[in-house]
Amino acid sequence: MSDDALPGPTDWGTTVGVGPWAGPWPADQRYDRQLLAEGDRRNVVDRYRYWTVEAIVADLDRRRHPFHVAIENFGHDLNIGTVVRTANAFLAAEVHVVGRRRWNRRGAMVTDRYQHLRHHPDVGGLLAFAAQEGLAVVAVDNGPGAVPIETAELPERSVLLFGQEGPGLTEEARKGAAITVSIAQFGSTRSINAGVAAGIAMHAWIRQHADLGASR
Ligand SMILES: C[S@@+](CC[C@H](N)C(=O)[O-])C[C@H]1O[C@@H](n2cnc3c(N)ncnc32)[C@H](O)[C@@H]1O
Repeated sequence: MSDDALPGPTDWGTTVGVGPWAGPWPADQRYDRQLLAEGDRRNVVDRYRYWTVEAIVADLDRRRHPFHVAIENFGHDLNIGTVVRTANAFLAAEVHVVGRRRWNRRGAMVTDRYQHLRHHPDVGGLLAFAAQEGLAVVAVDNGPGAVPIETAELPERSVLLFGQEGPGLTEEARKGAAITVSIAQFGSTRSINAGVAAGIAMHAWIRQHADLGASR
């Protein structure tokens, strides 16, 4: 039997993803007939190859971490796509966009399909949601009163809240947070990119609370 004739995914070497399913198709309903026929070029981990979006989201929902991510979007922050993609990678419960509803999806690289997203017109809405869900709001900013994230204990059930490029976190957000954490810097710039800050803060949460044996 040649490799081409083996049942299961056909790996096309350097091409991203996998080609059409070779051999008899699996009966499992999680598999998408069109992807089995045409191949799966999506940015998904191997275990989800050929799965429907709904099946992937359902599987992720069984394992999501209890931290949320929120970013203020009163201008048009271009970092939101990056934040969504990283939140997907670290399996955040939800991403909250505060302020403008519209955001540039390009940086998300389609990961927003697998991520629960919620919009709040203002900071008050986010704070009310957090209170209702028993989530501690952790402001991530390097202003006065912030404690170093490198040594802070992050609450497990939390919302990590980020400001936008330019103004940073609003006064209302800083006042409403249970704690503010800063990321240590050593150079001349006043701050780092909000998308990068979000990745660092999410990873700090992961280091403290995630089951690293369950990573893929
Ligand atoms: C570019 S910063 C805002 C600019 C900031 N107000 C200033 O004084 O330059 C945008 C957001 O990124 C995050 N951020 C950037 N650098 C940070 C740092 N060193 N520690 C914590 N958060 C940071 C915060 O959420 C911040 O609101």
